[in-house]
Amino acid sequence: MKYNITVIPGDGIGPEVTSAAVETLKEIGNKFGHTFNFEYSICGGAAYDKYGEPLPAESLEKCLKSDSVLLGAVGGPQYDSLPYEKRPERALLGVRKAMGLYANLRPAKLFDALANVCPLKNPKNIDMLVVRELIGGIYFGEKGIREGKFGREGYDVMAYGELEVERICRLAFELAQKRRGKVSSVDKANVLKTSGVWRKVVHDIHEDYPDVQLEDVLVDNMAMQLVRDPSQFDVIVTGNLFGDILSDLASQCVGSIGILPSASLNETTRGLYEPIHGSAPTIAGKNIANPIATILSASMMLRYAFDLKKEADALDAAVEKTLNDGARTADLAEEGKPVLGTREMTEAILKNL
Ligand code: IPM
Ligand code: MG
Repeated sequence: MKYNITVIPGDGIGPEVTSAAVETLKEIGNKFGHTFNFEYSICGGAAYDKYGEPLPAESLEKCLKSDSVLLGAVGGPQYDSLPYEKRPERALLGVRKAMGLYANLRPAKLFDALANVCPLKNPKNIDMLVVRELIGGIYFGEKGIREGKFGREGYDVMAYGELEVERICRLAFELAQKRRGKVSSVDKANVLKTSGVWRKVVHDIHEDYPDVQLEDVLVDNMAMQLVRDPSQFDVIVTGNLFGDILSDLASQCVGSIGILPSASLNETTRGLYEPIHGSAPTIAGKNIANPIATILSASMMLRYAFDLKKEADALDAAVEKTLNDGARTADLAEEGKPVLGTREMTEAILKNL
């Protein structure tokens, strides 16, 4: 089969990690007889530098036309003083919104080989899936700056409509049915009206999934429980902002944010696949970034966008074998042990494919 993939290298370490993932996809293509065509789209700070805007129409068009999108990362300190609309992050949020990617799947699983890298005591059986609502909530609510009682004030409205909650929690229940059958819905229902509606909808929809166990967890408690004992969680469903924060937390539970992939989905098979880490400007261009999060994102693309299960399993297995062999990038290495660069880690994974 032939698949057209749009690649957004973006900023910081984005170009290095996407090029690693593209190599692994090419190798999968060779091994399994598929053709992956790659078309490059300039977005984020790179697009601002070239065109004066973070998401040029042509770059977005490429995303909307392809079979799926692979993204590295956007952003960097040199863009911090830009007006809001010109910031690199607008590109990412713009692509998510334009593609209608309401569901962001962020699996966090502890590899056996990385138990010693995990900062938690005696970690075991950590295997969670954060399902983050991605195109609603406070990220996309009305926002602005106005005169307030205490001077100029910024405001961002958090709102969730019933249908928005329904579609994300249905997906969470369905995913739980294929996993360990438990959903933890995270909100702040003791304070926020938004969460009151969220919680009501989640419970109403739960009636259609009696085989799934549902619990409500307040977001502050969730942060604590993730550090105390993350093995208690299976699927975690939550809104945009809480999901952003908790998925970074979840990444540390399994050792490093450098290994966490994600899939952003809509109702079609056309999605966006990206590591959950950012552009990491301080290590950019030095061949030290961990390519695993992006390579595993490519694997999620094979699985979810193209229904290529065997191929995705092969790529996942190659990553796991490479870690079992002891290969470590700087974020994963124990003191005094050998450290591989981005390219060397990628080569090691390619060898195990
Ligand atoms: C993420 C990132 C983005 C987000 C930023 C870069 C806009 O932190 O994907 O988690 O907040 O969604
Ligand atoms: Mg984030």
